[in-house]
Amino acid sequence: MNLIDGKLTSKEVRKDLAIEVEKILSAGGRRPHLAAVLVGHDGGSESYVSGKMKACEEVGFKSSLIRYEDDVTEEELLAKVMELNEDDGLDGFIVQLPLPKHISEEKVTETINPRKDVDGFHPQNVGRMTIGMPAFISATPQGIMELLKRYNIETSGKHCVVVGRSNIVGRPMSILLSQKSNHGNATVTVCHSRTPNIQEVCRQADILIAAIGLPGFVKEDMVKEGAVVIDVGTTRIKSDKTKSGWKLKGDVDFDAVAPKCSYITPVPGGVGPMTITSLLINTLKSAKGEVY
Ligand code: GUN
Repeated sequence: MNLIDGKLTSKEVRKDLAIEVEKILSAGGRRPHLAAVLVGHDGGSESYVSGKMKACEEVGFKSSLIRYEDDVTEEELLAKVMELNEDDGLDGFIVQLPLPKHISEEKVTETINPRKDVDGFHPQNVGRMTIGMPAFISATPQGIMELLKRYNIETSGKHCVVVGRSNIVGRPMSILLSQKSNHGNATVTVCHSRTPNIQEVCRQADILIAAIGLPGFVKEDMVKEGAVVIDVGTTRIKSDKTKSGWKLKGDVDFDAVAPKCSYITPVPGGVGPMTITSLLINTLKSAKGEVY
């Protein structure tokens, strides 16, 4: 069994990004700039956004955090999005999800200028990605593709089973893996809550992507000997063993499954660190005008 070390890979990619930033600055260019809009005080969102801001600092990007209380109106938030859309000093921005119930996430996402949508959530970026045009690709699937590439894991002709059909992970993952491109060309099956015999389908996977949000869902008898297992689960569970009082639990029963795998990602330290790094990659691409 080989561990796919997302933390280490992420460090390597971030080193390369820092070098790119230095090149831009020494050529007289502007420092890449990412902004994040955070509404409310949800623990998970606070921690993700703080990780994103710290990562910017690490590679030499400028970062800005714009905060609102839970009672911000949809109108106020949309006005801020429109202001950021027009800000020439900004390469990209994200609005951290989830948003309070009185605000339409769909409306907010659609209002973001696709050229600054480094989360890759705007329908224009999703559409462009789907037909293989240059696009901002959402961070988690892009991070997984980067891990598969860097660990030389062959996808062509392989059977990939994606468990979960979310707009952020499962769906884009299935599109990228089946695309006619390097590190695509896979035969993809998407499973979800209505899939009968999900255990049996998972057992057929050469590459299994678990993105269903149910801690420990993938058990040992659902994995073929020698399979590659990518665990996207990040459920926060209370713990008295960590400083924060929380720990992350993946969708895979790691201890039981790992011995059967050729490669597996741990949680934490697998897909997670690459997700933030992908956001940095998209911000740099935007700064360099590589997508639009
Ligand atoms: N909430 C959970 N993941 C994400 C993400 O990647 N981007 C945004 N904007 N919100 C999230």
